[in-house]
Amino acid sequence: MKENDTGMDLFFEPGSVAVIGASNTVGKIGYKLMDNIVSGSYEGKLYPINPRDPEVFGMKAYKNITEIEGPVDMAVIAIPATFVLDEVEKCAKKGVKFLVMITSGFSEAGNIELERKVIKAARDGGMRVLGPNIFGLYSSRVSLNATFGPKGVKKGSVAIITQSGALGIAMIGMTATEGIGLSSIISVGNKGDLDEADLLDHLAEDVNTKAIMAYIEGITRGERMLESLRRVTRKKPVIVIKSGRSRRGAMAAASHTGSLAGSDEVFDAVMRQCGVLRAENLEEGFNWLKFIADAPLPSGKDTVIVTNGGGIGVMATDACEKYGIELLDEPELMRNIFSSSMPSFGSCKNPIDITGQASEVNYKDALLAGLESDRVHAMMALYCQTADFDKASYSEMITLIHNEYMRKHKPIAYSLVGGEEVSECIKELRSRGIPAFQGVYEMVSCFGALYRFRENLLREEQERVSIDTGSIQIGKIVDAALADGRDFLLSHEARAVLEAAGIPTPKSRIAHTIEEAMEAAEMIGYPVVMKIVSRDILHKSDAGGVALDLEDQEEVMDAYQLIIRNARNYDPHARIDGIEVSEMVHKGLETIIGARRDRSFGPILMFGLGGIYVEVMKDVSFRALPISRGEAISLLKEVRSYPLLLGVRGEESKDIEALIDSMMRVGSILSSVKRITDIEINPLFVYERGKGVKVVDIRIMVARDREV
Ligand code: ACO
Repeated sequence: MKENDTGMDLFFEPGSVAVIGASNTVGKIGYKLMDNIVSGSYEGKLYPINPRDPEVFGMKAYKNITEIEGPVDMAVIAIPATFVLDEVEKCAKKGVKFLVMITSGFSEAGNIELERKVIKAARDGGMRVLGPNIFGLYSSRVSLNATFGPKGVKKGSVAIITQSGALGIAMIGMTATEGIGLSSIISVGNKGDLDEADLLDHLAEDVNTKAIMAYIEGITRGERMLESLRRVTRKKPVIVIKSGRSRRGAMAAASHTGSLAGSDEVFDAVMRQCGVLRAENLEEGFNWLKFIADAPLPSGKDTVIVTNGGGIGVMATDACEKYGIELLDEPELMRNIFSSSMPSFGSCKNPIDITGQASEVNYKDALLAGLESDRVHAMMALYCQTADFDKASYSEMITLIHNEYMRKHKPIAYSLVGGEEVSECIKELRSRGIPAFQGVYEMVSCFGALYRFRENLLREEQERVSIDTGSIQIGKIVDAALADGRDFLLSHEARAVLEAAGIPTPKSRIAHTIEEAMEAAEMIGYPVVMKIVSRDILHKSDAGGVALDLEDQEEVMDAYQLIIRNARNYDPHARIDGIEVSEMVHKGLETIIGARRDRSFGPILMFGLGGIYVEVMKDVSFRALPISRGEAISLLKEVRSYPLLLGVRGEESKDIEALIDSMMRVGSILSSVKRITDIEINPLFVYERGKGVKVVDIRIMVARDREV
């Protein structure tokens, strides 16, 4: 077996293909498939299978796949769903390796059991299945167009994986108009067996593929997909378009983490974590795809904007800030490079404004000057239409410039603003494979994607650690709660979990009488906090079950009686498990750490600053677990209120080390004890540097059907 063998070579390079359901009837999918395979000049052997016609497309047709003499690597199935199982069994007998199951009418239509049976039969027969419910597969390696989409797919270096069939077909059309050549396009449909992860792993190694785009609707087996994305994005750019930015996926809000973790926010954060370039829409995705597939990688981060209009220069500067692009900012150097190619009243401050009075020659000279300087790593060429704009000569000049930049492996893109002539010029340039855009933002966003891909390539993989958090001891606490019929831990149990994991919690004891409460307070030291402990009262404050800042024995006595009375009034049947007496924690910067099991991605970690930042501004972010220390730091930095941790208005910076340690430990608890479904520390006070953190309130949810 060769190195990095993903077992998918034959899938992309089948030597022989049978079409089950091949038809002579124009308009049938079995006809279109044959037409595409034949007119696409498939390089392998093609076997039509049809029980009625002895000949299909002028070729001998077989009644049954088992009648074929030679081997069959792939069978494309396009017959009604009810007949598929029989044919799959025959394919297994024949020793087929891959099935491309076009047929609909399986799980997407509620026929889950039929799909399960068909997939099982295929897997038992040693086959892998693409689909069902797909438009098929195109692979340039053997010129196989086994789709019922358009003919004449242009060969190239871009791979597309799509969950939506109809959109996939439309995408083939879009690649043709955009002049994008494909190495493959694969429709995954119901993902009964093969999914994006299988394909990505292979495409990462595929020498014909330079960039990958995936259109995703829903994620199954998300943890596996993330692993594969992490690997692939370190080699090739992966652009993902996911539909549905709704919050529907959010779990019923048992905790903040649940309600804040809307499916799209989580998807967005974990895609970023994995180095995926997430495009807002198809148009943006295609712009990035085309640009990244063709552009050389910049050798550094210093970008220069050359413009003949101040206004668009400012717009581009704003866009650069949004996309994190660094503009070269060395006035002396810029003057040396550019002053000879502009009028005296131009500006040598990046953006280089050669002004509207500059001639085409000036413009060309400025771009060439940027090309010649090793200090300029990438160029953005902006152009505002001027009175003497000449479409033909401008296109020629840009084509020449572009070729020079490509020859020197320096990325460049163009944004042209103007009327009809300018639009035609853009069209002309694009048809020549030159990245010319109408909008400044579109152009800058392409550079943003290119730079993020470059970061992926340079990123050092840090070890993702799972700290030993005393999982055996924690497991016992969880078991006791489950045995008690609960799906949550009482506060002293939750505290014990965090203590076992090495997360600083306040000193605390459970009291069952006034005397015990007073004794506990003496031991802990005043002031203390008292809280009701009841499996029937989740929202303690609402029930009047919390008393803060108790200074002496008398106050503790009064508070004890009051809390019991309030709890009885709130719910006369509530079981009271005691009153927790705790150290009154002095105030620090409020933060929230949450961890939960996401339906798509498995264990995830959430961080945010507490109070209004989380309540009002929903200023939180997420990472899939386990994480490296570097990922924990990037999670902190992603929240908008992060500067508060660094100290503002003369305040000292906060103990970020201790905060990261607690985050990593919370993550490790969730990763190692599978019966814990949610952990939320809210708030966690963070003190000044060196002074640590302290948990104030904890909520832990548990479920029986998971294993430690
Ligand atoms: N073995 C071989 N050939 C067979 C078999 C068999 N067991 N049974 C039937 N056939 C032949 C038929 O005789 C027919 O050929 P003919 O035209 O010479 O008579 C051919 O296979 C097709 O069979 P039909 O019964 O005519 O089926 P039809 O073509 O109407 O539908 C299809 C089959 C297309 C697979 C349909 O069931 C289906 O699933 N359609 C939806 C496909 C789809 O949309 N997929 C998702 C794409 S993604 C998107 O949204 C675009």
